[in-house]
Amino acid sequence: MLAHLIAAMPEQALDAAVRAALQLVTGTYGLAVLDAARPEAIVVARNGSPVVLGIGEREMFVASDAAALVRHTRSVVYLDDGEVALVRADGYETATLDGGPTAKTPSTISWTSEAFDKGEFAHFMRKEIAEQPEAVGRTLSGRLEPRFQTTHLGGIELAAHELLDIRRVKILGCGSAYIAGAIGAHLIEQLARLPAHAEPASEFRYRNPVIERDTLYIAVSQSGETFDTLAAVQEVKRKGGRVLGIVNVVGSTIARECGRGIYLHAGPEIAVVSTKTFTCTAVALALLAIHLGRIRDLSTAAGSRLLAALAALPGQIDGIIAREAEVAHLAKRLVACEHAYFVGRSAGHAVAMEGALKLKEVSYLHAEAYSAAELKHGPLALISPETPTVAVIPRDDLYTKNVSTIEEIRARRGPVLAVTHPGDLPAAVDAAFAVPASEPELDPILLNIPLQLLAYHVALKRGCDIDKPRNLAKSVTVE
Ligand code: F6R
Repeated sequence: MLAHLIAAMPEQALDAAVRAALQLVTGTYGLAVLDAARPEAIVVARNGSPVVLGIGEREMFVASDAAALVRHTRSVVYLDDGEVALVRADGYETATLDGGPTAKTPSTISWTSEAFDKGEFAHFMRKEIAEQPEAVGRTLSGRLEPRFQTTHLGGIELAAHELLDIRRVKILGCGSAYIAGAIGAHLIEQLARLPAHAEPASEFRYRNPVIERDTLYIAVSQSGETFDTLAAVQEVKRKGGRVLGIVNVVGSTIARECGRGIYLHAGPEIAVVSTKTFTCTAVALALLAIHLGRIRDLSTAAGSRLLAALAALPGQIDGIIAREAEVAHLAKRLVACEHAYFVGRSAGHAVAMEGALKLKEVSYLHAEAYSAAELKHGPLALISPETPTVAVIPRDDLYTKNVSTIEEIRARRGPVLAVTHPGDLPAAVDAAFAVPASEPELDPILLNIPLQLLAYHVALKRGCDIDKPRNLAKSVTVE
C-alpha cells in the first residue's frame, strides 16, 4: 500500500515523494524505500520503530538495531520520530516530514564484534548466562562509593535535595524488564522506605494514569526500544512527570527520551530471552535503592554491608554457574510434564515470575507463577503428582511460611523442587539447589540464576530453538 502511495506522489525526488506520502498516513513505521530505477539512494523514515544509520568508509548502512552494524562500523546515527533520511554511499541528509533539515550527531557503539559470536557455547542464551559475572561487574563499575557507604550514579542528574523530595517510586517496563522492576521496587521500599511499585508499562500507558510531581518514574528496558515502555515514558513526560531510564542499549530511543538514568553496560544481548540484562537491571535498581536510602534513613553500617554484598555478586554468580550440572539434573524432573507452578513470597514471588516466564519462553512448557501465600486461595486445586512446583525459599523471615506452603503442596502429592540457601531442607522437598546467601535484600538476584539455567536445560532436553523461541522478537517495537 505504502509503496503504491509513494509511487503515486507528484514529487519527482524519492525523498520528497516519501515525505509527501508519509504526511498522509498514520501509524508506526520504520521504513527503507528504494527506487529500482534509481538504486543509488535509499530513503529511510521512522515513526515509533527504530531506524539507525551506520557511517562507514565511503559506504553507509541502514538497520533497525545498532547490533546489526557492529561488524561494519562503530559510528551510528539514530533517527528520531518524524524524521526522514536520504542515504547515499558517500553520506546522508536528514529532514522532518515537511522538509526542514535536521542536525544529527553520530554516536559511537562501544560493543566489540566478538560479543556477537557464540564462541564455545551452543546458544547465545547460555553464553549470556555465563557472561553475567563480567556484566554485573560492569554495571557496578565506578558506582560503589565505600568511603561514603553509598553509590555514585552520575547519569541520574538529580541532586540530593531533589531526590529527598521524592515521596513515591513507580517502575515501568514489560516482560522481564517489568519483573526486574518488581525486584527493584522491593529493594527501594526496604532500603529507602519509599512506597515503590512496579507496573507493566503496557497497562500503565492505557489507563490515563495520575502523574504526581513528587513521584520518581523509572522506565526499564534492555533494548530501549520497547514501544509500550516508550509510550509510557511519553505519557509521564506529557503530564509533567520526571522519568529516569534503566537501559542497556546506549543511545536507544527510551534512553534518549528519558535523557537521564543508568546504563547497564551488560554488553549486547542476542538471545531473544533476557538473562544477563535481567540480572544487571536488578543490580542497577539495587544501586539506586542504596542511593535513595542513604539520602534518607539507611545507616552507614547498612550501606557498607550492602556495598560489600554487591561487590561479592560476580564471584557468587560464577560459583552458581559452575554448578550447572546440578541444575541440568533437576531439569529432568520438568522435561516430561505439561504444567508447572513457580511460587515465592515477597521479592521471591518476582523471582518465581521470572523463572516461569523464562521456562515458558524457551521450553514452551506451561509454567504459572503464583504468590506462595495465595496458593491456598485457589490454585492448590490444580496440584497433583503431574504438576511440579518450583519453590523459591530463601532463608529469610518468611522461611517457615514457605515451608508450610510446601507441606500443603506435598499433602496433595505435588512434587517440589526448591531454590533455596544452604542448610537442612524440609523433608517434603523432592530436590533442591542452594545458592550462596547474600544480604537478604540482594538474595533475589542470586536465586534467579539457577532458574535461568533450569529453563535452558529443560528447553535443551525438549529440543527447542532456544535462541529464537517461536512467536517472540528481541525488540517489541509494535503496540
Ligand atoms: C523475556 C523477554 C521479554 C522482554 C520484554 C521487554 O525474556 O525478553 O519479556 O523482557 O519484551 O524488553 P526490553 O527490556 O527490551 O524493553
